[in-house]
Amino acid sequence: MVYSEQVFLNALKILEDRRSKAEQEVQEKKKRIFESIEELGKLSKEIAEVSLLAVKAIANGGAAEQVKQFKLKSLELQKKRDDLLKENGVPKDYFKCRYYCEKCHDTGYLVNGFCDCLKKLLINEAARDFNIKAPLDKFSFDNFKLDYYDNNLVPGLKEPVTPREQAKKNLDFCREYARNFSKESPNLLLGGGTGLGKTHLSLAIVKEVLKKGYSVVYISAVQLVLNLEEHRFSSNEQGKYSMDSFLKCDLLVIDDFGSEPISSFSVASMYNIINTRLLQQKQTIINTNLSGQRIVDQYEERVASRLLGEYYVLKFYGRDIRQVKHLRF
Ligand SMILES: Nc1ncnc2c1ncn2[C@@H]1O[C@H](COP(=O)(O)OP(=O)(O)OP(=O)(O)O)[C@@H](O)[C@H]1O
Ligand SMILES: [Mg+2]
Ligand SMILES: [Zn+2]
Repeated sequence: MVYSEQVFLNALKILEDRRSKAEQEVQEKKKRIFESIEELGKLSKEIAEVSLLAVKAIANGGAAEQVKQFKLKSLELQKKRDDLLKENGVPKDYFKCRYYCEKCHDTGYLVNGFCDCLKKLLINEAARDFNIKAPLDKFSFDNFKLDYYDNNLVPGLKEPVTPREQAKKNLDFCREYARNFSKESPNLLLGGGTGLGKTHLSLAIVKEVLKKGYSVVYISAVQLVLNLEEHRFSSNEQGKYSMDSFLKCDLLVIDDFGSEPISSFSVASMYNIINTRLLQQKQTIINTNLSGQRIVDQYEERVASRLLGEYYVLKFYGRDIRQVKHLRF
């Protein structure tokens, strides 16, 4: 699992808030009860004093009998305090700290690694991180409508299909893909003109896959290259994502592939990402406006052959839905 540093910081901040809230609650409860039961303060002070005497006696190598007397006195006073609380109707575990997560006491860590509560927070925070740029709620399989697509055959295809039939196939495929996402899932290339639902469907997949607990990075090709350049030229690793985050996440979605400025650096970076992820059997989804021929022209043969040969291709046809929507209102 790889999360950006900001996602980590956000999750740890939430844990810290939970912890201090739980501890503060105990302090407030104590304060309230001490104010309402006057004798309690006196008793607590006495218990503290006796405990201190016992500790001092032990430290000074005091006689066993003397230490025992202090302990007995302390127990007696504690019992008195408990009885007093009981008389006043205060439950025995009233001052117990109520952590949000009892397993890790809101630290996020267990001896063998991350606690489930931290894992859950990281997923939520990663999802929220996308939300800032793209409200994930807007993109679901359920609000992906088919009647925006024409029902006339797309001209010039070997296997005749209408934009709507094709959109239905894409929707069904992506829904199943998200439902069954695993290390064995194929890589996807979503190709077609502008405004046809590629980003929409890929974000719907992102949302479902995040819910399953996988780590996902969704990024436009432009941002991806910018991030890598920032990392390359800065010594303090300030860029949000490093090459490592693109190589290690369970699912990487590169949106608008082909719209990034093409340089030998960007082409080499794309090749590295695509090739390494294929070798490590990590899933990648790429959205693009480029035709197969344009991919061959714009990238090296080795990038094009991997995308066209080893990715499952979903084609999108029809008229720009941004415009169709606009005309309908
Ligand atoms: N089938 C659909 N049902 C409802 N809304 C849709 C559908 N397809 C696309 N949209 C909406 O239309 C807009 C454009 O779609 P989207 O961004 O997915 O297109 P795209 O194929 O990624 O285009 P581009 O190539 O320009 O990035 C978005 O607001 C999206 O939510
Ligand atoms: Mg798009
Ligand atoms: Zn926990």
